[in-house]
Parts: sequence; structure tokens; C-alpha cells
Amino acid sequence: MFQPSKKIVYEKSKLSGTTTWQSPSNIALIKYWGKRDLQIPINPSLSFTLSKCNTQTTISYKPSSDGFKYEFYFEDQPKPEFKKKLDIFFQRIISYLPFLNQISIKINSTNTFPHSSGIASSASAFSALSLCLTDIEKSILCSSDFLKKSSFISRLGSGSACRSVYGPASIWGKSSLVKESKDDYAVPFDLPNFFKNYNDTILIVDEKSKSVSSTVGHDLVKNHQFKNSRVKQANKNLDKLIKSILNKDIGEFIKVVENEALTLHAMMLSSNPSFILLKPNTINIINKIWSFRNKNNTTLCFTLDAGANIHLLYHQTDFETVQNFIKDELLIFCSNGKYIDDKIGYGGIKK
Ligand code: DP6
Repeated sequence: MFQPSKKIVYEKSKLSGTTTWQSPSNIALIKYWGKRDLQIPINPSLSFTLSKCNTQTTISYKPSSDGFKYEFYFEDQPKPEFKKKLDIFFQRIISYLPFLNQISIKINSTNTFPHSSGIASSASAFSALSLCLTDIEKSILCSSDFLKKSSFISRLGSGSACRSVYGPASIWGKSSLVKESKDDYAVPFDLPNFFKNYNDTILIVDEKSKSVSSTVGHDLVKNHQFKNSRVKQANKNLDKLIKSILNKDIGEFIKVVENEALTLHAMMLSSNPSFILLKPNTINIINKIWSFRNKNNTTLCFTLDAGANIHLLYHQTDFETVQNFIKDELLIFCSNGKYIDDKIGYGGIKK
């Protein structure tokens, strides 16, 4: 849908300014794992958008007579370790945002979630950056389709980032079940009110950055022996999940969400070469959740990212019970007793 645009020379007066956007992380319930071509997912994914784990990014821009230039700062400090990823991102997007050839930009980002919490920040980081860039385009060109384009640009930085621009939930990847769904960008998925009152408490099992990056993990899916079955399963699970959400069938919702989380890690375990991101305490927590659910009628279930941390999903009416369970039985498995209470949120915000 979005095509590379031709070069246009813009008035210099329009080419300077500042914009700031805040954008959240998201947690996938149907997992994006495996891609083809340029950041095209092999199966559709569905995520809940979070509200407290955010990146806030400011871009100041001014005219440049010798092409596009950028400087990147994280909490006011230069970060040369992000240069490679950012260079690739800007190479990918420049033909879709050609005004960039006429400006130089200074980017400054901060995260609201703690450093070294093992929380992946690429979704919030690339969505906040893309919202700023698309906002600059809007102020120069008065372009439309702002959120779709921001999601499209975010995807070229990190796949999961394209789902963060909207709330309370998003779907990315073509599915016959969702008419407007696309591979190029995510679309919003409205939740019934019951699910808008869901919490996500993130138990920090491991604070270190993971041993194998998602990008390497996605790559190993290309020749994975279970790739075709995984694509079929993800599509089936999406169908079951959407039905369970619309019918408020909590039992089915829990089954699908946990099956997706464990399948993601089963794909890692059965890759060639194999790798393991789960830690013994991840398994300890899962077993505790299962025995807690056997004794209590609760909405509590878990999901996992590409890492050892556990996301606990539960309805607001279970807040007190689940918080007591966390404190009494789960904190001993968390690194330095750390966890983050987050909940469903509504996507990027202009500051
Ligand atoms: C397990 O979006 O981090 O979190 O596109 O290579 O940047 P890149 O990968 P990334 O992969 C996220 C994988 C996941 C599942 C998900 O968020 O759907």
C-alpha cells in the first residue's frame, strides 16, 4: 500500500521543528515467530498493548544541504551500539519518507521501564521513533493514514513494533478472519470491555539480555522442520483466540494463550541449532500457576516473550488474589524479587 515516493524539494521553512511521542511495549498472545522478505511475518499475530512500559522519543530536525544525517542519544548519552540497527532501519525507510534526504535529525529517547529488566524495548523504541518520523512527514505534507503509515515504518525497524501504535489490541499479518488485516502493517483490534480490564504483571526472572536475539531466532524458522505446522497452528490459534475473546470464554482463552507461549519456546528448542531461553525459575513459576489454577477459579494465565520472564495476564477483579499469590509464592523465583505491574493501554501518544 505504501510505495516509495519520488524526490520533491520542500520549502526550507517547513524543514525544522521538534516532535515528541511516547509509545508502549506490547505482549503478543498469538506469536510472531518467523519472517520472510523484508519483515513480512509467516503468520498473523495478535497482541495486547501495554500502558506503563513506554519509550519517549524526541526528534529535533533542521534542513541539511548534504543529505540525511542522524544522531542518536539514549537518556542524553550517545549510544554507538545502536548504530548498526538504526543504519539498517533508515536505509529501509528513506524511500518511504523521502523528505528525510533534506534534513538532519537529533533523536533522544528514554524508557519508563527499568534498565536491565530483561524487557525487550524494540517494540516501544521503534514505534516511538516511527511515530515521530511520520509526524514530521505529516507536518510537511499533510499526509493521511497517519497510524497505518507509522505502523508500516515501525515494522521496518522491528516487526513487533508495528503493533504498538494502537490499543487496546492489534493484529499484524494477513488473516482471512480479519478482513482489514495486512502483512505490511498492523491494524487495531477492539476488545470487549471485559478484556480492556486486564492486567499484565511481568515477573523478572532474568535481568540479563538474552543469549540469542529474536532476529537470529526468526532466521532459524526459515529451515525449521516444524515451520509449516507452526503456520497452520498459529492461524488456528488466532481463530480460537478471537472467538474466546468475543464469547468471553476464559477457559479457552487461557488454553490458547499458554499453548502459544509454550509453542514459541518449543520452536526454539527444536531449531537447528537449538537454543533455550527458559530458565529453571520460569518452569517453577509455570508449575505454581498451574497448581494455583487447580485450586482457584481465576482468570490468571501466563505468556512468554523470547526470554525467561513471565507475563501474568488476569482480569482486574482478580487483582488482589493474584497480587497475594505473587507475593506469597512467586517472588522467590524473581531476580532480586523484581516485577512490573502493567495493564492494557491505548498506543502511541503525542507529548
Ligand atoms: C517472541 O519484533 O523483536 O516477541 O522483527 O526481528 O525485530 P524483529 O523481531 P521482534 O520479535 C518478537 C518476537 C516475539 C513474539 C511477538 O512479539 O509476536
